[in-house]
Amino acid sequence: MSAGHILVTGASGQLGQTLVRLWERSPIPQYQFSALPRMQLDIGKPDLAAAVLSELQPTVIVNTGAYTQVDKAESEGDAAYLINEAGTATLARWAAQNGAQLLHISTDFVFDGSSTSPYLPDSQTSPLGVYGASKLAGEKALLAADDGNGAIIRTSWLYSEYGNNFVKTMLRLMGERDAVSVVDDQIGSPTSSHSLAQLIFAMIQKRDYRGIYHWTDGASMSWFEFAQQIQSQALRAGILSKAIPITPIATSEYPTPAQRPAYSVLDRSRALEDFECPGLDWKRQLAEVIAELN
Ligand SMILES: NC(=O)c1ccc[n+]([C@@H]2O[C@H](COP(=O)([O-])OP(=O)(O)OC[C@H]3O[C@@H](n4cnc5c(N)ncnc54)[C@H](OP(=O)(O)O)[C@@H]3O)[C@@H](O)[C@H]2O)c1
Repeated sequence: MSAGHILVTGASGQLGQTLVRLWERSPIPQYQFSALPRMQLDIGKPDLAAAVLSELQPTVIVNTGAYTQVDKAESEGDAAYLINEAGTATLARWAAQNGAQLLHISTDFVFDGSSTSPYLPDSQTSPLGVYGASKLAGEKALLAADDGNGAIIRTSWLYSEYGNNFVKTMLRLMGERDAVSVVDDQIGSPTSSHSLAQLIFAMIQKRDYRGIYHWTDGASMSWFEFAQQIQSQALRAGILSKAIPITPIATSEYPTPAQRPAYSVLDRSRALEDFECPGLDWKRQLAEVIAELN
């Protein structure tokens, strides 16, 4: 008999696709597993979404679906809030009313970056942009609706072999150009969607989670330093044939519509203490994704 039914939202996103691919090797094969893309489960449409949930009757909902376009959100606030706040609230309400658990993914962009030490789950939030504010509003919606059957996992600098992310962008630019410039005054922690997926499986396996957790691959660096590591691993793996110069620049030299936190390292010790998390270091996580891309 199935131990329960896991339903992943946002199945065509990078975390959604990773969960689907790693599911076969997960430690919880006794669960029934479904993953629906936005076309089949649009969390921005409350009645339709609730109808899909009531038909499938998941016992655990993993919400990876989100409005994730950080810069566009500055001019599309309604769309960002519709998905990131109202969409999360719809899932949280359904979960609370039906005794299901909701595992919801959030972001380091709920912080303003003024800290100089890693952010704890209960550190003061103060988003700088609309995307971060809409994600924070989603967190609050979950915590308000939840009767203890849900949790938030904040992550940062997520990358994978799927979709759009910094690693894939860097590899493309490093293959096309003679030089690249990369911001060196924003400090954060890269997170492979593989390791985040393993944490999610470990949490579901343990069944005991509540409140806010942070998850990254445990390092602290600038985008420039991350780009250097991407290049050196890609050269070793044979994805890139030649090294090009990488120039460190200031955020002010690369203006974007949304302001980003200058420092957004997350302290993941609560997750490490509570769950059997994968022990791979961040360089090995990156190597795994680069191997998949090869
Ligand atoms: N990427 C990062 O660096 C990063 C950092 C910190 C936190 N996070 C968080 O991590 C989670 C996963 O991120 P990701 O990088 O996997 O994002 P992603 O690749 O952009 O995927 C998000 C998915 O959500 C789907 N979606 C959008 N609107 C939806 C709706 N109304 N109903 C259902 N699904 C909808 C998208 O569908 P379409 O494909 O149809 O657009 C997309 O497949 C998100 O909660 C994000 O906020 C990401």
